[in-house]
Amino acid sequence: MKLRLLLLLLCVCRLGLTEEPSPAAPHVSGTADKGEDDSDHDCRGTFSPEQHRVIGGAVEQLGLRLLENLPISPQQPNVILSPLSLALALAQLTLGARNETENLLLQSLHALRLPCFHHILGSLVPYFSHSSVEVAARMYLKPGFDVKISFVEDSLSRYKSQPVPLVSVEEVNQWVENVTNGHIANFLESIPHDVVLMLMNAVHFKGEWQTRFDPSVTSKGVFYLDNQNSVPVDMMKSAQYPLHLLDDPELEAQVASFPFKGNTSFLVVLPRGNVSSLLPKLNISDLYRRLPQEKTMQVNLPKVKLQYRQELQEALTSMGLGSLFSAPNLSGISDFPLKVTGVRHASTVELSEEGVEASATTAVTSMRSVSLFSVNSPFLFALVDDASLAPLFMGIVTNPAPDHDPMLRDDPHGNGNGTMSDQPTTDSAGKRDTVGDHSDGLHMEEVEDNSWQPCSAPSGGKHGNELQKKTQEDETCLKTEDPVPA
Ligand SMILES: *[C@@H]1O[C@H](CO)[C@@H](O)[C@H](O)[C@H]1NC(C)=O
Ligand SMILES: *[C@@H]1O[C@H](CO)[C@@H](O)[C@H](O)[C@H]1NC(C)=O
Ligand SMILES: *[C@@H]1O[C@H](CO)[C@@H](O)[C@H](O)[C@H]1NC(C)=O
Ligand SMILES: *[C@@H]1O[C@H](CO)[C@@H](O)[C@H](O)[C@H]1NC(C)=O
Ligand SMILES: *[C@@H]1O[C@H](CO)[C@@H](O)[C@H](O)[C@H]1NC(C)=O
Ligand SMILES: *[C@@H]1O[C@H](CO)[C@@H](O)[C@H](O)[C@H]1NC(C)=O
Ligand SMILES: *[C@@H]1O[C@H](CO)[C@@H](O)[C@H](O)[C@H]1NC(C)=O
Repeated sequence: MKLRLLLLLLCVCRLGLTEEPSPAAPHVSGTADKGEDDSDHDCRGTFSPEQHRVIGGAVEQLGLRLLENLPISPQQPNVILSPLSLALALAQLTLGARNETENLLLQSLHALRLPCFHHILGSLVPYFSHSSVEVAARMYLKPGFDVKISFVEDSLSRYKSQPVPLVSVEEVNQWVENVTNGHIANFLESIPHDVVLMLMNAVHFKGEWQTRFDPSVTSKGVFYLDNQNSVPVDMMKSAQYPLHLLDDPELEAQVASFPFKGNTSFLVVLPRGNVSSLLPKLNISDLYRRLPQEKTMQVNLPKVKLQYRQELQEALTSMGLGSLFSAPNLSGISDFPLKVTGVRHASTVELSEEGVEASATTAVTSMRSVSLFSVNSPFLFALVDDASLAPLFMGIVTNPAPDHDPMLRDDPHGNGNGTMSDQPTTDSAGKRDTVGDHSDGLHMEEVEDNSWQPCSAPSGGKHGNELQKKTQEDETCLKTEDPVPA
């Protein structure tokens, strides 16, 4: 059994802190600082499905904008992230942000004019735990750090982010190990003295297809990287798979939704053209509205296990959040000047056969010609909560076998020239890799660690603003040790 997890670690440094704070309990000051401006609204009680969908749309927009700003290259051909995790971390930070910093954060969260944003987003968290999604959050506070009680209280009540004293790297690592079911050990090497606050969250998803794939039918197939190149992949196949499939002329893509057990589904968007150019046009709730009834069809889906790591600071800066890393107004957290340092992120996704029930028939020898959905070229995916339509995970896969040397397009039957192949992929030489351990369902693991670099410039007279540039990358204040299991 495996699991998917997401971990987000956000760390805030105190600007210009030179002396070690005394190792006392975190100093909580009682300034009655208004945490959020929901005063005009009654934000108590339960929220309607429509309200949840509005927040789901905001989370989606955040995810899409981040995807647009993350590089895809042959060296890093796949992107996997959790819009939900990022939204939760930024929203929690927003609770302590003031003036233009608060506005900036709300804007990037697409929540500037959403009443009760924090309440509704926060209300999704316990709601998710009724499905196959688990969210865990923690806020580590440096002893002696003068934190405002309103921030701690709001973080706890809105986002279930437990305040915990930052006592040792071992304790942090133990928590990480606990919430990741042991998948991440020794997460941090050390915690630099100028870190006063770390926001962390972990999201796990472990889903089983409503209709599973028969592992004995999985066989080698071909994934077309572009007009010239392809890579071999294990293809999960089904001759009769119930699927919602939409051919969207505007996106120039096939769109399919695979239901999971427990109110989530896996959306696959398979464009005829460039997968990146989907992003500005994508609207998940619009697609869900237009998805037709389930129909039985032939489905090929690559069986993949992918990892992704990325420093997010540059992408967040392109999204307009650069001031978080220089001189944000976080006076809702503390009266001392604070800033955010690096934001790092790592995640994995694993697609495999296991699900709830076998598909109707597992024989690949097909019936009469039915529709075919063959995911054998670059695609976008989203793991979507069916109620709020919030994307819990999102990603782009342009090469499901990045460690494999691409081969010249293996296309003896002239499947065309850059068009998406509608033919079942040719099994290369019938080689069937016997997979040693049987994995199950869909695994998403995501680790986001916003590893914060030292706030105080190392001796050498550099000034604050230069800190976050490449030159500093080696001085990451929190070193992560291979957070994603190989
Ligand atoms: C931060 O915002 C608060 C509230 O608007 C304001 O009182 C304070 O002066 C601001 N701090 C800075 C450094 O701009
Ligand atoms: C708040 O931000 C505005 C600009 O957005 C600025 O003019 C004003 O001085 C700031 N207020 C405080 C108290 O910092
Ligand atoms: C980790 O889990 C163990 C066993 O459940 C528990 O005793 C320990 O307190 C946990 N540690 C942290 C840091 O959460
Ligand atoms: C799915 O949602 C329905 C109502 O929306 C709920 O009754 C049911 O318990 C949920 N199922 C799971 C597995 O969470
Ligand atoms: C297509 O994708 C490549 C990278 O794979 C990118 O460089 C290029 O700009 C994209 N073209 C369009 C039109 O989006
Ligand atoms: C997405 O589509 C829904 C329903 O069609 C619409 O209400 C919403 O405004 C759209 N969102 C965006 C960002 O265009
Ligand atoms: C692919 O298309 C190009 C130009 O459209 C053409 O020159 C080439 O012969 C085509 N290749 C194949 C294998 O059809």
